[in-house]
Amino acid sequence: MTFAARSFSIRMMEIARDIADARKIVRAARSEGRRITFVPTMGALHLAHVSLMHAAKGGDSFLVVSIFVNPTQFGPNEDFEEYPRDEAHDLTACEQAGVDLVFLPSTDAMYPSDSATTVRVDKLTDTLCGARRPGHFDGVATVVTKLFNIIQPDAAYFGRKDAQQLAVISRMTRDLDMPIEIVGCPTVREEDGLAVSSRNAYLNQQERRQATCLYRSLNKAMNMIESERTDADAIIDAMRRIIDEAGPATVDYISIVDPASMQPVKRIDRGVLVALAVRIGPTRLIDNIEVDPRPVSR
Ligand code: PAJ
Repeated sequence: MTFAARSFSIRMMEIARDIADARKIVRAARSEGRRITFVPTMGALHLAHVSLMHAAKGGDSFLVVSIFVNPTQFGPNEDFEEYPRDEAHDLTACEQAGVDLVFLPSTDAMYPSDSATTVRVDKLTDTLCGARRPGHFDGVATVVTKLFNIIQPDAAYFGRKDAQQLAVISRMTRDLDMPIEIVGCPTVREEDGLAVSSRNAYLNQQERRQATCLYRSLNKAMNMIESERTDADAIIDAMRRIIDEAGPATVDYISIVDPASMQPVKRIDRGVLVALAVRIGPTRLIDNIEVDPRPVSR
C-alpha cells in the first residue's frame, strides 16, 4: 500500500506593532512569491471591513490589515477620542477572516513629534466631505501613503461607501506613481439599507430607525434619474424632503457630482455620484450611490 506524502503548512496570524517588524514579515512573504494585498482600517471591525478582507484574500495572496485610528484625519471638534476601539474583537475578526498579518502601529511610531510632511490631493477634495471637513483628506492621503510605504502592497482594497476617499486615493496613487492596484468594493448595507458603519453604534433606537432616510433618499434619486429626470436641483430637493420628513436632522450636504472629478453636475446626462452627509443627533452619517441615466430614446 502506498501513501501519498502531503505537506500541510498551517500559518498563524501574525501581529506587528513596530514598523520594522511589519516590513520584515511582509518581505518574507514576498520572498516566497506571495502577492501582498492590503486592507487599511481604523478598527471597530464590522461586516463591511470583513467583506473587503474576503475580496482581498484570493489565491495565494498574503493579506495584511492595518488597524490605526488616524488622528490627523479628525478635525478638532470631531470624534477622535470617542471613536470605538476594541482590539480583542478586531483581532478575532481578522483571524476568522484569514488575515495573515495585522499591523497595529502606535501614534508615536506613525507620527514622530517632528514629522513635517503632508500629502495633499487638490481639486477632488474641494467638494462633499472635503469641503465640510477641512484637512480630513490631507490626513487620509498622508496616512495611506505612509501605510503603503510600510506595507508596499501589490493591491489595496477600499469601500465605495467612502466614494470620495476612494477617488482621492486612486488619484494620489496614479499621480505619485505608486505601483499599487486600487480596488473599489461595493457598499455593504444592513437589511433596511443603512450603510454599515462603525459610527452606527452611536445611534439610539429611534435615531437608528430615522437613519434609513439616507438610503431612502438615494433610492428616490435613483428612481428619478432612471426615469429621465435631468435637473439635479429638483432631485436634491426631493431627497431633502425625505430627510426632513424622517425627523430632526441636519443636512451637511446633498450633492450630485461627476464621479471622476467630484465636481457638481447641474444637468444629468451621464453617470453621476449622488452623495449625502446627514447629522442625526450627534452622529454624522454618509452614503452615496452611482447612477447611470437610461439611454435617452430617440
Ligand atoms: P474605516 O472607516 O475603518 O474604513 C476602512 C475601509 O472600510 C474603507 O475602505 C471604507 O470605505 C470601508 N468601509 C466602511 N464601511 C463600509 C461599507 N458599509 N461598505 C463598504 N466598505 C466600507 O476609511 C478609513 O477607515 C480610513 O479613512 C483609512 C482609509 C483606514 C485611513 O485612515
